[in-house]
Order: sequence, then C-alpha cells, then structure tokens
Amino acid sequence: MARYAYVNGRYVDHREASVHIEDRGYQLADGVYEVVGVRDGKLIDEGLHIDRLDRSLGELRIAWPVARTTLSFVIRELMRRNRLKDGLVYMQVTRGVARRDHAFPTKPVKPAIVLTTKNTKRIEADPGPGIAVKSQRDIRWERCDIKTIALLPNVLAKQAARESGAYEAWLIDADGCVTEGASTNAWIVTQDGELVTRQTDSGILAGITRHTLKSLCNSLQLKLVERPFTLAEAKRAKEAFITSATSFVMPVVKVDGDTVGDGKVGQTAQRLREEYVRFAAAGEPVT
Ligand code: PDD
Repeated sequence: MARYAYVNGRYVDHREASVHIEDRGYQLADGVYEVVGVRDGKLIDEGLHIDRLDRSLGELRIAWPVARTTLSFVIRELMRRNRLKDGLVYMQVTRGVARRDHAFPTKPVKPAIVLTTKNTKRIEADPGPGIAVKSQRDIRWERCDIKTIALLPNVLAKQAARESGAYEAWLIDADGCVTEGASTNAWIVTQDGELVTRQTDSGILAGITRHTLKSLCNSLQLKLVERPFTLAEAKRAKEAFITSATSFVMPVVKVDGDTVGDGKVGQTAQRLREEYVRFAAAGEPVT
C-alpha cells in the first residue's frame, strides 16, 4: 500500500488524503489525468505523458496547477517516499473547488492536483497465456482524445467484459469498427502480417505506448497501417493485442469467445512485448 499521496502541495498520509467535496472533479468530472508506468524504478516515457497532460489541460482550458519542473520533482519525490519500483504514477488535475455550477467559475480558482502511486508486479517479456476481450458498443463522447476523468462508459464496458470472463472491452463504433479498449489501444496483425491500429483522431486516445510501439515497429521494419478495422476483421486476424502504460503489449487470444489465430500468443505480439520491455528497462532512472 502506498504510504503517501501528494495533494495540492503537500505529501500526506495516503489513508487520510482527501479533496474538497466541492472539487469540480468530484462533482462534474471536470478534470484530466495521466498514468505513467514505472519499471524497475524507471519512469516510462515521462516526457510524452506530461506533454499529453499539457494538451488535455489546454483543450479544457484548465491552467497548470504547478510548474512542469515542479511536477517532475513531485513525481520523483512521491516515488522515493513510496519506494515505488514497479507500478505506476497516477496524476490528476481538476479545475478546482467552486460552488457547483456547470459553467466555469467566474472568479479564478486554483486547479487541484493529486498524485498517487500504485505498486504492481514487474511486467516481464513473458505475457502468459494472453487475454480475452469482449466487444461493447462505444457510447462515449466525441472528444476521446482528451484524457478526462469522465470515464463512466469505460467503466461500464470494462465491467461488462469482466463479468463475461474477459479482461478488456473492445469498443465498437456505429460502423462496426473497433475504436480502442476501455483503457487500452487495440491492434491486430492481418493474415498477411500487416499490423493495423486505428488512426488517432478525436475518436480515440492517442496512447503513449501506441506511439512508442510505432517507432519500435519502424525499427523492426514491420509494416504498420493506421486505419479502422472491424470486429469481424479482428476475429479473422492472425493476431491481436492491446497496449497501454500498465499492460505494455498484451496479446489477445479471444474476441467474444472466438479464438484469434490458433488461440495462442502470436509471434509478432510476443516480439513487440519483448522489445517494449527492453525499451522500458532502458528508460530514465529516477534519481
Ligand atoms: N489508460 N485508450 C484509453 C481509453 C486509455 O484510457 C488508455 C490508458 C489508453 C492507452 O494509453 P497509454 O498507452 O498512454 O497508457 C488508450 C490508462 C492506463 C488508465 O486509464 O489507467
């Protein structure tokens, strides 16, 4: 269990950490977040995550709560205090505390910032047997590119997946295409060995793991196409996998109960996971 949380300028006992009941994040989901993976004491792609936080804040016109350099310092200090080796750093910024009104507060309020850490098992190159995914209608809004804390459709989709025995939900748009997972990006490998993942626009979150994996695919000279793919195409695919800061590259062996390929972890997904773990292991150490 993490010992400390960072709340609006203070490191506080995690069990006692709290925010104001009129925080706009609590009442209106008026805020954004980031999750940065940590492997063997090293932050993975910190800079890109902070860049995305900056973009999310900008899109919602929420000011930075602290200087960017301060945030970097706080991340490291919290990791140190919590002795975080493997897991994640969660950070959340909301518009702040104000009397409840849907519109932005008329008087300037200070944005609220919270950081926590979570320990997990170290992610290794061996993915185990792979995971099952379950399709769910994508009922989210039209700005899925913003990493907001308003996650109810994602929560419901993930819960439906879990209740069916699947690990992740794959969200399906009005054209029958897979947009992304409830908290991951979705990929397939076609029978011709071509990697496919949906293009980034306002319909999905531009995953940082997705971004880094694109570069790794490039250096491995793997063919990658960014385009929509249907659920039917995913079921006919040779391989499938998901990516995120917390799952790295995780092979998908079942979609809605149908096996993908031979139902075993695919070669490409396995290779990319190994490459990603190598990349994460070489990451920036926390001093
Ligand atoms: N989820 N798509 C969605 C909807 C996500 O919530 C996430 C991340 C991703 C993958 O993005 P990244 O590679 O930057 O982690 C894609 C985080 C891990 C979460 O909500 O816990």
